[in-house]
Parts: sequence; C-alpha cells; structure tokens
Amino acid sequence: SIVSQRYRTAYHFQPPKNWINESSYYRVRGTTSKEKNLQHPASYTTFINISGPMYYNGIYHEFYQYNPNGSVWGNIVWGHSVSTDLINWIPLETAIERDTPSDINGCWTGSATILPGNRLVIIYTGADPEKRQVQNIVVPKNLSDPYLREWTKAGNNPVIQPVGPGLNSGQFRDPTTGWIGPDGLWRIAVGAELNGDSAALLYKSKDFLNWTRVDHSLYSSNSSSMWECPDFFAVLPGNNGGLDLSAAIPNGAKHVLKMSLDSCDKYMIGVYDLKSDIFIPDTVLDDRRLWSRIDYGNFYASKSFFDSKKGRRIIWGWTNETDSSSDDVAKGWAGIHAIPRTIWLDSHGKQLLQWPVEEVESLRGNEINHQGLELKKGGLFEIKGADSFQADVEIDFELTSIDNADPFDPSWLLDVEKHCREAGASVSGGIGPFGLVVLASDNMEEHTAVHFRVYKSEHKYMILMCSDLRSSSLRPGLYTPAYGGFFEYDLEKEKKISLRTLIDRSAVESFGGGGRVCIMARVYPVAVVDGSAHMYAFNNGSATVRVPQLRAWSMRRAQVNVKGME
Ligand code: FRU
Repeated sequence: SIVSQRYRTAYHFQPPKNWINESSYYRVRGTTSKEKNLQHPASYTTFINISGPMYYNGIYHEFYQYNPNGSVWGNIVWGHSVSTDLINWIPLETAIERDTPSDINGCWTGSATILPGNRLVIIYTGADPEKRQVQNIVVPKNLSDPYLREWTKAGNNPVIQPVGPGLNSGQFRDPTTGWIGPDGLWRIAVGAELNGDSAALLYKSKDFLNWTRVDHSLYSSNSSSMWECPDFFAVLPGNNGGLDLSAAIPNGAKHVLKMSLDSCDKYMIGVYDLKSDIFIPDTVLDDRRLWSRIDYGNFYASKSFFDSKKGRRIIWGWTNETDSSSDDVAKGWAGIHAIPRTIWLDSHGKQLLQWPVEEVESLRGNEINHQGLELKKGGLFEIKGADSFQADVEIDFELTSIDNADPFDPSWLLDVEKHCREAGASVSGGIGPFGLVVLASDNMEEHTAVHFRVYKSEHKYMILMCSDLRSSSLRPGLYTPAYGGFFEYDLEKEKKISLRTLIDRSAVESFGGGGRVCIMARVYPVAVVDGSAHMYAFNNGSATVRVPQLRAWSMRRAQVNVKGME
C-alpha cells in the first residue's frame, strides 16, 4: 500500500517484505516491554531485537527474534540474514527453531562466540515447557556452507539451568559472548533477577558446554530488578579500534557493561578485575535515570560484536514503531534496526562514542556542499538538492562566542525529555537552539527538529541535544516525544559542534558532537510527501552561529532482505 511504502525504510535493516501477515508481535507505543506488550495483538511482520551478530569467515551474520506464524508474541525463533558490507542483506531460512524441550516456548536472545581453531558456537536462551528460562548451545551444521544456514543443537541442552539460591527462573536470559579468564576458562554473563536485584550472573566453562555458576556476579545492582541483553566488552581510551574479548586485553583497557532496562540501553564504564573476576564501575550512580545511555531515543536490546575484518567493535540496536498497531497492519511490517555503529571510548575514558559504519556512505549520491554560512538569530538556511526523505546530512556548527551561554541546572539531567519540551526549537536561548530541521512541510506545520543548546556549568560546558518529534506529524495519536541527552564539551579547545543525521523515510537517526549523544527516532509525517519536504539549518539563539561546512547526500536504496523476494 501507499502507507507501507511511504514509511518503509530504504537502508535500515528490516525483514523481507513477503513475511507480511504471516506473523505478528505485540507492542505498545513507545515501550518495548513484553509484559506490557500483551495488550495489542496485531497482524504484521514480527521483528524484534538482535541476537548474536557476528563476522565469520568473510560474512556478517545478523540473527533476530522472529515470530513466524503466531498471532501472539511467544513463538520466537531466530531469523537470519547475511551480508558482506553490513548494509545490503540476503534473507535466509530460520536459523534456530523451537523444536526441543529446552526451547519449545521460544528461542530468545543469545550471542555468538568464536572459539580457538575458528570453531563457532551460539549460546541462547530457551523457554522450556514450564516457561523456565534455560541456556542452550547450537553449532553450525556444515562449516563449508559460507552462509551457515543450518544449525545443530547440542545433545546436552540446556547447558545451563535456572538453579541456585535467589534466582528467578522466569528472569534469567540473554547470555553474552564468551571471554577467557587468566585460568584459561571461558566465561559468560547472563542477565538475571537475583534476590530482587538485577545481575549479570557469571558462569565458567572449560569447553563451552559444561558450565558452573561462579559464586559471585560479574556485577549486580539493587537499582532495578532485571537487566535484559547484557553486553560486556573491552575498549581502549581514545582508540577507535575494537578489541576482541577473547584475545588478550591490552594494558590500559577499560571494560563496558551494557544493559537494557526502562526501555533503553544504558552502560557503565569500569575495570574488569581479573583476580576477583568482577566488573568494577568507575562511578556508581544510585539513581539510574543518570546512567549513560547508548542512545537517547528509540533504541533497545542492542548487541555488539568484534569485527575482525576491520578491527572495530560494532553495535546494533532495535527500534520499534511508534505509530498505532492498526497502522502496522496497514503497513504490513513493524520494527527496524538502527544503522550498525562503530563504538569506542573517548580519550578521557568517560564516554562511549558511536558513528555509523563507513559502509553506509556507499549509498551516498551527489554531494551538496556549502561553506562559510552564517546563521544569525532567527536564521534559516534551506538545504536544497538532496532527497529530503532519504538523506545523510553532516553539519559543523561553530560558535562565535561562548559568553552568552545560559547557566546549567543539574536537575535537568533527571528528565532531559522534559527539558527538551520546555526548551524547544523556537524558544530562544543564549547559545542555541541551533541545528537541523528535517521533513518539514511548506508552512512548517509539520517538521522534526534536531538541535543543540550550550549551557555553562561550573567548570565546563554542557551541550544539550534534542530530537523533537512533537511536530513530526499532523496525525494525532502518535508517540511523539522530545528526546534529549547532554554531553560535556571542551569549548575552549573545540569551538565546533558537529551534527550528523541519517534520514530514512520514517527514521531520523542523529549523532551529536562526533557521536557523543546519539538519538534514534521514528516519524510518520502526513503533510510532507516525496519531493515536497524541506530541510533547513537554523539558529534561534541570540549568539550568531557559523556553519563552516555543511554537506548533504541523497541516499540510495539498499538491498535489505529483498533478494529473490519481489
Ligand atoms: C529483549 C528481550 C530479551 C529476550 C527476548 C525475547 O527485548 O525481552 O530479554 O531474550 O527479547 O524475545
């Protein structure tokens, strides 16, 4: 239908079109919680989070949670696609089916690990006949098949049972990629509820098949009750090369623990103490609203992997729809993945940075380039010549002075979305708002604004980045928050603040300050149609802002799971 084509993304990962109506998944607007999801059955393409992404023998594999035939969430199996460039994907048959007692009620999230000798293993959560969550192993059936279409289940599945004091057998899932400790044993972490706390439980094994629980957790916290999809990886401050967790970790490396909770992906940076075998965060914040986030928008259940082809770590996240379930029936699909991102640690060792994988640039058409622009208060510069529905935009903003910065109020950090609603794109400040307006109708009635404000804190500057969806569509009833995140910035040193935004029909994915704050958003405009949407750089702050460089490209359509399907 027209609706389905208008919003269907052109270069973000989605399942094949012809799975439409064969499957479905429950969802509630603006949330990804399965518990709450049991309210809105609908019939559209099932598509949930990422499972076990990996690079193996020249091929990238993407597995995802998929319901092939049910009308309710609960028949989850592993969908599978392969790629050589992370952008164009070939759909394959289901990789893991619900056909044994240890996964009969669902093949849930898991991770891939490459063992010595290039042996590959996937560990994933199964829901057993009693709906207990157990951990299972599969290995490729035929290593000479480059696509690894078929997988064999280990005879001794489940390899890990939900046993032990304090463990909730219904909250015990999503094993991580394995790593080797100094004793030569493999380790994995499993997300769990332990005595009402959230924990990344630690397990050890010699052979990846026989596991014993370590008497302490890798990390646990009483600030929430369950972490989904924990991810544990090593990073080197200031080095955007990735590290392989099962190789020797160099001196000076830090570890990151990512966890999914409260409908978002949060992380802690710390050290992995090899002696005590625990993760020790550099800072512990009791109030989890203050925890750093991988993405401040619509992004959940992400997983990362080490890409040995290019020596980088890549993180993938899942983004759900924020229109209504009846729209999804009309569209015939729901859910996309964010563009895979390279992820690394800043030179201060305090914050993760992310950037779309360079391969996405292969979709760029002719470059539109403007230099030396100046945006006075109220300034609006129309960016013409690119496809405003499928574009990649990079803008550098340069401050002419930092004297005007308004004072920062730390209480804003507790609810940044509230602050973004109050400090919208039309509310003038000392420095900012300035940024980008996309998918704007002729009269601006409909538009999405991505913008910055600069605040002065005691010894530093705090930059606010918002992605404001409140006017993104004239249609009522959509979930249209004003997403936002803050980052610290050394404005004495660096006077430029960069913004990159990938526009893909219903996706607006933004990277602020070189990837310090990322905001993934979904929008469903109705007034703007192909060819009529406008795109602007703007400034509504008192201080003039320069734009030394603005570049924009139309983005070609990628081959995402369509081969042989049309
Ligand atoms: C994350 C999640 C995981 C679970 C899977 C089930 O969204 O709830 O915790 O393994 O999805 O489909």
